[in-house]
Amino acid sequence: MERGCYSCHGNNAEGMHVYPKLSNRAKGFLTYKLKRFRDKISDNQQQEMMIAFAVGLSDENIDNLTTFLYEFVEEKNGKKYDDSFKSQGDGGS
Ligand code: HEC
Repeated sequence: MERGCYSCHGNNAEGMHVYPKLSNRAKGFLTYKLKRFRDKISDNQQQEMMIAFAVGLSDENIDNLTTFLYEFVEEKNGKKYDDSFKSQGDGGS
């Protein structure tokens, strides 16, 4: 998924914190929501965040995104979050 959707909705669009899960949700529902955001309609303050990301989407983008999300299958053995993080310093205790 392009356009930074992952940064809020999670690497597998599984959602986190206040950001809803998007994967495997009904295509019609997701389309409806994205078109509403694109029309700058939001029901609450959190949804205002989405408007900035939805305004640039064309009908085709929305169709592609919602198809992708609806059909989304998490890779077997679920991809782990990046674990290459290295702690600072020499680790002397
Ligand atoms: C800045 C963080 C952020 C980014 C980036 C973002 N979203 Fe969201 N998104 C949200 C929040 C917050 C909500 C809903 C809040 C609520 O309804 O309470 C939301 C809701 C949604 C919903 C409605 C889901 C539902 O259950 O109501 C869809 C669909 C969605 N986002 C798709 C996307 C797509 C596609 C992208 C990439 C183009 C994207 N989002 C990028 C924060 C973000």
